[in-house]
Amino acid sequence: MRNEMTIEFLSVSENESLARVAVASFVSQINPTMEELTDIKTVVSEAVTNAIIHGYQEKVDQKVRLMCSIDGGEIEITIQDEGEGIEDVEMAREPLYTSKPEWERSGMGFTIMENFMDHVEITSGPGEGTTIHMKKQLTSTKALCN
Ligand SMILES: Nc1ncnc2c1ncn2[C@@H]1O[C@H](COP(=O)(O)OP(=O)(O)OP(=O)(O)O)[C@@H](O)[C@H]1O
Ligand SMILES: [Mg+2]
Repeated sequence: MRNEMTIEFLSVSENESLARVAVASFVSQINPTMEELTDIKTVVSEAVTNAIIHGYQEKVDQKVRLMCSIDGGEIEITIQDEGEGIEDVEMAREPLYTSKPEWERSGMGFTIMENFMDHVEITSGPGEGTTIHMKKQLTSTKALCN
């Protein structure tokens, strides 16, 4: 089974839960386990929060785009902002690296994404916005689809 969706929403923190719930609801079509669902919701939250607080520096009138597709047992999630972008992606990926220690961020968002997903790709540059593309093969549906 293949299916996909795109939603776009303003960069207000209230939409973090919208994004999480939308993806969870969409993905539930392929019967993920509770653990897989929790992991997916967590990575969506991390990426959307990053777009809002880092990409857009908490400007509330910008757009965040979320795309999600399922194909067999594989899920792909793309989260895109047109904000500040990241100067050094390798450094940003390092565990505990944060550009906002004064905001009590822990620098673990990308590490969580990498741990919970099979594949995390970051496309970003200063002034070019940021696109996070993530993939995961759900074990629960592997047997059914392969
Ligand atoms: N969408 C984005 N736009 C611009 N910069 C980003 C974006 N996402 C991440 N970054 C940069 O990468 C750094 C690391 O991100 P990461 O999510 O790992 O940590 P954090 O957001 O600082 O802390 P935490 O996620 O633990 O609250 C951020 O501090 C920020 O500098
Ligand atoms: Mg983060």
